Amino acid sequence: KSAEKGGFEHFMLKEIYEQPKAVADTIHPRIKDGKIVIEELGLSDEDIRKISRIQMVACGSAYHVCAAAKYVLEKLSGIPVDIDLASEFRYRNPILSEHTLVVIVSQSGETADSLAALRESKKRGFPVLGIVNVVGSSIAREADSVFYTWAGPEISVATTKAYSTQLAAIYLIGILFGEVRECISREEADHYIQELLKLPEKIQRILDEKERIQWLANKFSHTKDVFFIGRGLDYAISMEGSLKLKEISYIHSEAYAAGELKHGTISLVENGVLVVGVATQQELFEKEISNLVEVKSRGASVLGLTSYGSYSMEDTADFTIYVPRTESCFATSLAVIPLQLLAYYISVARGLDVDKPRNLAKSVTVE
Ligand code: AGP
Repeated sequence: KSAEKGGFEHFMLKEIYEQPKAVADTIHPRIKDGKIVIEELGLSDEDIRKISRIQMVACGSAYHVCAAAKYVLEKLSGIPVDIDLASEFRYRNPILSEHTLVVIVSQSGETADSLAALRESKKRGFPVLGIVNVVGSSIAREADSVFYTWAGPEISVATTKAYSTQLAAIYLIGILFGEVRECISREEADHYIQELLKLPEKIQRILDEKERIQWLANKFSHTKDVFFIGRGLDYAISMEGSLKLKEISYIHSEAYAAGELKHGTISLVENGVLVVGVATQQELFEKEISNLVEVKSRGASVLGLTSYGSYSMEDTADFTIYVPRTESCFATSLAVIPLQLLAYYISVARGLDVDKPRNLAKSVTVE
């Protein structure tokens, strides 16, 4: 078993370290002569221009990819995006308008609710695109078209590399749709592609600095309540950071849109609470900082997560983690890495079964 882990103590850490390669393997085959080509979508330029709405459906971390995708796809392609949890979508009699593209995101391709959402959409006559990791899985077989994420087998219950490759899939689709629909110019598309190609190396740079996260994890391993807050895409990352932490460390954690704090949650903030403030989105940075000032004044410890250059985070945060700069719509791919490592090392510090957390299965094939 230790040979399978390639010298790593757990599959989760091995898979965290496989992310630069997994993301590169997902991106590279879809770039030809400097342009994005995704033949497997089976969509002509004409088909892409006709799409009036994208309905994304998934569970768990794959749903968090959808949450990020709403921001990214709307920005890059100009197409309105609705997102839904598969367990809700399948029973709410969804109203799908003409020319809606349904996208189901799933690592395993076997999640019962996601598969049911796929069948429901097909029954109503809507084309379904699967973004799937496991080749030949049920969702891959039943979808009208499949975008495979080339993450390779993922063993750890807590997903890491599959999540990262799903995000890469969204970026590729966003740039492709955006250029075809003239929401972004050729030059802009080219700039995005160049930034995309730099992501694997930037992820590697974060991994090379893992000791600092390990140190922070040991410091906070006894914390009882953690809130992850962010705005825009940073809210989407917060959801994933929070899920990662709770599933393997059993620490109570929640993610909130930072602007929502005042509408209830802030009453829970007191001494001993840890607030992880994610702030990679430049245009929302000051707003996020003002939320962090509020929680700090109520006794919370603040761990800031931002990009190199945004050093004013240190005026407010007790501790700050920096990730390399990238296009703001790709920042999720970098900010998620320290959050995965934080969850991992906290779980290790607490002596828990990192790869097989209690009560959880790798894929939820029953309702
Ligand atoms: C993530 O760490 C979880 N283990 C879980 O939320 C997972 O993402 C969810 O069950 C969806 O699985 P799928 O991608 O295989 O459909």
